[in-house]
Amino acid sequence: MSVPTSSAQWSTRLGFILAAAGSAIGLGAIWKFPYWAGANGGAAFILPYILFTFTAGVVLVMAELALGRSGRGSAVEAMRRAGGRGFVWCGGMAVLTSFLILSYYAVVGGWCAAYLAEALMGEAASQDPEVLKMRFGELVSGRNIAWLFAFLAAVCLTAVFGVHRGIERLSTCLMPIFFLLMVGLAAYSLLLPGSEAELAYLFQFSWSTVTPQAILNAMGFTFFSLSLGAGVLVTYGAYVNKSTRLPSAAMWVAILALQAAILAGLVIMPAVFAYGLEPDAGPGLVFITLPMIFAQLSGGSIVAVIFYFCLFVAALTSAISLLEVAVAFLQNECRFSRRAAVFLCFAALFILGSVSALSFGPWNDCLIFGRSIFDFLDYVCTNFLMTINGLAVAFVVGWKAWPKAMKELSTCSPENGVVTKGTLSAIGFGLRWLAPLMVLASCWQGLEA
Ligand code: PHE
Repeated sequence: MSVPTSSAQWSTRLGFILAAAGSAIGLGAIWKFPYWAGANGGAAFILPYILFTFTAGVVLVMAELALGRSGRGSAVEAMRRAGGRGFVWCGGMAVLTSFLILSYYAVVGGWCAAYLAEALMGEAASQDPEVLKMRFGELVSGRNIAWLFAFLAAVCLTAVFGVHRGIERLSTCLMPIFFLLMVGLAAYSLLLPGSEAELAYLFQFSWSTVTPQAILNAMGFTFFSLSLGAGVLVTYGAYVNKSTRLPSAAMWVAILALQAAILAGLVIMPAVFAYGLEPDAGPGLVFITLPMIFAQLSGGSIVAVIFYFCLFVAALTSAISLLEVAVAFLQNECRFSRRAAVFLCFAALFILGSVSALSFGPWNDCLIFGRSIFDFLDYVCTNFLMTINGLAVAFVVGWKAWPKAMKELSTCSPENGVVTKGTLSAIGFGLRWLAPLMVLASCWQGLEA
């Protein structure tokens, strides 16, 4: 049986929570959330998102963490121990999912690094939308691969240092800075004239704006934003010590993820409104619309550096968590050393990522079911692979191994409090009924997309 190495442990509860929050807070929160909220009617999207986060979402976070801590190995080992041999393939699928996600996630991570570098050189902002569009076009069809390489190198370098010295240290250092800077940016953005309209847009709820599509989109987004269904929290859970109370740690992760998304909305939307631009500008929002705003702000070049730094940190910490799933698998199941595992992943990810990167340039007419390679991978991973994994976790933890999971969820040292029977049955209910419902609904939304 495989056992994790003794060094593979978070040294503190805070370090673990920040690493898990670092995974959750990623391109989803900063890149996707503002434009999805914009496109889905603001509050009509945000309220269901909050609701799903604190019901089915957080319960699935707890389930993945419990599965990981009782498995004490890779996602495959966790599934094997909790569900028996028949469920090993689910663990394998989680490893595959995280690997595929990382291959294209790193492409966008590379763009973030490129924009950070441009901002540092004072070149990110421009008043002219055509110049900005051209610059973005040049990046995604040309220098893409070099930036992919650089981004993957940063991710792998952190991973080589290990769970405590690499991932935990980096997250403990970067996540508080990230939050401070985001609060500063939000405050600055809210001081811009016209930001009241934005606040009303984001938070004034009216039933007439709620559409079934907005609700389904909110479900899908909750799932992605909490890093569910990719084996990440299972893998991170394996490094948590037995004195940590899992339900409250999961709650913290959910609160931080939600805060980051709302902050990103507060940073981006007022600026968009203040300059009369469209809030539903799509994925180009942070790379094309925002630089236009930076050019008009006083101190805009500093604001640009801070913003792209936050975006880069968010992408980096999420990418690191995705890589850890495959690294833990290679270490535990194939007996690789950490270094060899990271190196192998780097090479494979660079090749696979380059294919996605090229789909923006020379290979953009190579379509799979009408989608570019990048879009196809994103579509399959977020709508199907992640949801199947999510269902498997809900089934194994909520039904098959529930007594064991209950024990795991309530295990903690006495000074960290107790998990009451009521809490456990609420978690059980959420896991058995709400979570599968949310997962299936987001899969259905994907089918329609
Ligand atoms: N939660 C991350 C984000 O919002 C994405 C992610 C998904 C990370 C699944 C890990 C696993 O960007």
